[in-house]
Order: sequence, then structure tokens, then C-alpha cells
Amino acid sequence: EKITLSVIKADVGGLCGHTSAPEELMDACEFVLEEALDELIIDYYVTKCGDDVDLIMTHQKGTDNKEIHGLAWSAFEEATEVAKELKLYGAGQDLLSEGFTGNVKGMGPGCAEMEFVERPSEPVIVFCSDKTDPAAFNLPFYRMFADPFNTPGLVYDKKMQTGFDFDVLDIYQNKKILLNTPKETYQLLALIGNLETYSVKSVYRARDGEIAATCSADKLSKVGGKYVGKDDPVAIVRPQSGMPSVGEILEAFAKPHMVPGWMRGCHWGPLMPVGEDDANPTRFDGPPRIFALGFQLSKGRLVGPNDFFADVGFDSARKKALEMADMIREMGPFQPHRLSESMMEYSSIKKVLADLEDRFVPNEKHEVVDKLTYDVEDQS
Ligand code: F6R
Ligand code: MG
Ligand code: MG
Repeated sequence: EKITLSVIKADVGGLCGHTSAPEELMDACEFVLEEALDELIIDYYVTKCGDDVDLIMTHQKGTDNKEIHGLAWSAFEEATEVAKELKLYGAGQDLLSEGFTGNVKGMGPGCAEMEFVERPSEPVIVFCSDKTDPAAFNLPFYRMFADPFNTPGLVYDKKMQTGFDFDVLDIYQNKKILLNTPKETYQLLALIGNLETYSVKSVYRARDGEIAATCSADKLSKVGGKYVGKDDPVAIVRPQSGMPSVGEILEAFAKPHMVPGWMRGCHWGPLMPVGEDDANPTRFDGPPRIFALGFQLSKGRLVGPNDFFADVGFDSARKKALEMADMIREMGPFQPHRLSESMMEYSSIKKVLADLEDRFVPNEKHEVVDKLTYDVEDQS
């Protein structure tokens, strides 16, 4: 019997700016999900990461199911009512469409789902983040499933020796490609090292095609001048028994890496692993953060969670992330702290630049160098 684990998230308002979703919003969501218990869903857990509310649900309806997505949408609608009543900041921010049309994708919320047959014991890890985008998972997914320095199980566990298949999405062109590691490691890195264009959507164990990980990466769609469902991603990873262990999966966040997001969705910053209670990004609206909740599934029941990054073992990762934050903050509005225009999420920088367009005059003192002379010819 197959179980589906759906994690659907949305920002429906913050308590004082974009820092935190208050309890009232989670209560409103829980009220809606409670009603659907035993009818539509088997179990649920509601949490928040910064200003994002995350609905973790189990059911048997499969992925991309209209009723499940509709349920999440109504929970967020209910929470939006509360957010409006409390005049929270950005109330209803991610519910960009007027009415629900069958799938939350492309409507504002983000979603990660996987369907599988529950193993004799089925541990799962749900990751929730704020102030970053799905490409934040490119490097950690690589570390978990393709880097033996992170995951010694790739070397020691025979079940993993044929490696993992990475499903990579070109978010601009809405195309995808499946690449195997270790066979195509270098080709994979050639793509996913580019956090602007490529996002790892899912990872499968090559031996049997069993799903190992998935995140809320999706094609880039714009609604009302805002990229939708792109920010503050969620992910699901299945550890143990021929998959990387819990510790190997968490280890991918022990050396913080730079991700796009942070202040105004316009800056590179370190992804800081924190406990559930510390997911209230404040400094410069950040730094970007992530927490990891471990559950055991029991016929779809969510037993747990175990708040992994609350562990003291991640103290030095946090310290390092804060040092990285200090360092890159010194750059202010200069690259590489500032994202390229094409990656900036909410800013009107393009408008600012367009307004200056007419004021540019030719620089006659210097000849314009033909751009082509810079292009290096075929290096092979
Ligand atoms: C980034 C984020 C915040 C806001 C910033 C400005 O994801 O949520 O950094 O972009 O606080 O917010 P507005 O323009 O809504 O006042
Ligand atoms: Mg917000
Ligand atoms: Mg957010």
C-alpha cells in the first residue's frame, strides 16, 4: 500500500515584517486539517519557518492530487482571514490567484511530495527553509547522494554502489534531465553549480529507482510581477536502509554554503541550520535558515518529530554561518553580496536601471571594443 507524504507551504503573513508567522496562523491551518483527518488525510503536522507556514500531511491520494492541494489551499485561505484580521504584514502574500484551480503549483505556495510503499521502518526527514530558493538544495543533495566525503555509505553500503539519479530542472525553460552519479558526476556539477538556472528536483536510488529526495523546485512562473512558489523551499528525504543515514543527510548542512535570498530576495548569504524554535530570521531579514524534522511513519501516521538541527552538534555550523554573514554583509549593495539582476526576486532594480537608460551618452573618448574579440574560441 502506497503512502504519499505532501509538504505544502505558503507565506500568508508575518508578525512584524517578514520575520515570523504567529501561532494564530498555524492554529487556523490545524483547524482545517483536523476536519479532514481520517476522511482525506491520515495525519498532519503544522509548523512554520520564518514567515512561512508548512503543512506536512500524509494520505493515500498520490502526488499532485486535487483534493489534497485543495485542502492545503483552504487551510491557507483560513489562515489568511486570520492574518487580515490581525493586519499581519503581507497578509495572504502567497495566495496569488483568486480561486483554486486544482493544483497549488504556479499559484504561490510551494510543494514537495513523494509517494512510496512504507518500508518495514520508514524514517523521513522534512526540511523547511526561509529567505532562500530551491537551488539552495543543489549542493546539499549533491553532498548527501554523490559525495563520499560527506556520505561514506556510498562506499561502504553495497545497496548504494550503483549511485543515485538526479532529476535536474531548467527552471527558465521548464525542461528536465536525469543524470546518474557517479557515472555522470561532472556533467551533473556542470549544471547544478549554476544556482540561477538549474535546480535539483528529485533524487532516485539508481539500483531500483526508489525515490530518495524531492524538493519544491518548480518552473519559474510570474504572477502579478512576482515569481511564484520559488522562494523558501521545502524538501523531503528518506534516510537509512540503503539510503544515506540520518547523520549523512544532516551532515550536508554542517558546512554552511551561500544561497540566494536573504534581504529582499536580492542577496547571497549563508544557509544557517537551526532548531524549529530558532527559525525567526531577523538580522538583515535573515540570515537564510533551514530546519530538519525527523519522523517515523507508521501506516502513514507521523510519529515525532525529532528537531535535528536543535542539536548542539550544529552549534559550530551556526557560528560559522554567522561569521560568513558578517563577512559578506561588509559588501553592502555590491556584488558578490548582491545577486545579479536576473536573480533578484522582489526588487524594482530593473525599473531603476530602465529609468537611467535615457541618461546614458556615448563614451566617445574610448572606442567600443567589439565584444566578439573577447570570446574565446573553441578551447578543445
Ligand atoms: C525576503 C523578505 C524580506 C522583504 C523585505 C521588504 O524574502 O521577505 O527581506 O523582502 O522585508 O519587504 P516589503 O517590501 O514587503 O516591505
Ligand atoms: Mg513574507
Ligand atoms: Mg518567507
